[in-house]
Amino acid sequence: MATSREYGLGDFDFPRGWFMIGPSGDAGRVPAPIRYFGKDLVLYRGESGTAYVVDAYCPHMGAHLARNTTSYIVRDGEQIDGESIRCPFHGWRFGPDGVCNAIPYSDFIPKAARLQTYPVIERAGIIWMWHDPEGLEPDVELANFGGHHGEPGWLEWKIDYMGDLPCHGIEIVDNMADFGHFIPIHGAKDWQYFANEFIGNAVHQYYSAGHRTLTASDGDQLALDTWYEGPGFLQSEMAGAFDSFIMIANTPVENGVTRSWHALMVKVHDGSREFTDEDRANALLYQEGSRLAFAQDVEIWANKRASINPLAVPADGPYAKVRTWYRQFYNPRDRVAEFQNRVNGLVVTLDKRPGTRAA
Ligand code: FES
Ligand SMILES: [Fe+2]
Repeated sequence: MATSREYGLGDFDFPRGWFMIGPSGDAGRVPAPIRYFGKDLVLYRGESGTAYVVDAYCPHMGAHLARNTTSYIVRDGEQIDGESIRCPFHGWRFGPDGVCNAIPYSDFIPKAARLQTYPVIERAGIIWMWHDPEGLEPDVELANFGGHHGEPGWLEWKIDYMGDLPCHGIEIVDNMADFGHFIPIHGAKDWQYFANEFIGNAVHQYYSAGHRTLTASDGDQLALDTWYEGPGFLQSEMAGAFDSFIMIANTPVENGVTRSWHALMVKVHDGSREFTDEDRANALLYQEGSRLAFAQDVEIWANKRASINPLAVPADGPYAKVRTWYRQFYNPRDRVAEFQNRVNGLVVTLDKRPGTRAA
């Protein structure tokens, strides 16, 4: 395991972007302690149902807002009050903007009585948090996952927690360029095309090859457009036995430790009828195939040592560009264009499509 500084990523220990912090079920009326970006945080749901993330420690005397079971405020179920959260120690109450809006025994509320809060969006059954080392508001929209969540014929995804990996996010994002691992790790065969395209805050991987299990019949191609918009999660439109949509999230817990989830939505029919048990069984089977394919990468990441300077050969794919692209999220916003300009464009690693010259 190595830190952002050891990889030479930039000024910040943790990147700027939208990150998954858990499935929707993790937020409830009992505030939950969570830890990301090397910080103790609290996730709770207000009475309206909206989810919030605030810093864990009360500015009054430092009590943890969610690690308490014995305070009467907690026992009596009075910790969430409207959209506000009350501290179990002396009952100070903080609004969703983090500002203290009541002290039970004082009319005077100091200006400094506020919690840091973080932008949160709940979408597609997942809670997403904006992290910004400069403390600025989001400058990019959260993805909409191909628009497939809730689309007719598409079953909701199943979300798999894949572990807390002693591996920096950069090594997970390296996978975007990693042509050489597809055959040994994933069982790819009959390659036709592999390319990466860098477009601003996005990096795409265009892939077309056969696969041992995810195609309908032998000789079929599995075609994927896979991309990151920002550092926190991968999306992939996959055309195989079924159309499906993959999301793989990697969120820093500590500097060099990454929490990983996999999720897959499957289009089981054209939307003209209700879902049947068979649809659900097919989707689950397909989902499990995809999870197992990702688990092959995860097993490597869970056990490898850090690779600060890969001993790369040219046919490995454009790792170095992926790492340069990734640095935009670890440096101040006014330097983003500098990193993007260094990598923008298409890099074709392999092209054996009929009618094209072999690359
Ligand atoms: S420590 Fe939170 S109210 Fe006193
Ligand atoms: Fe992989």
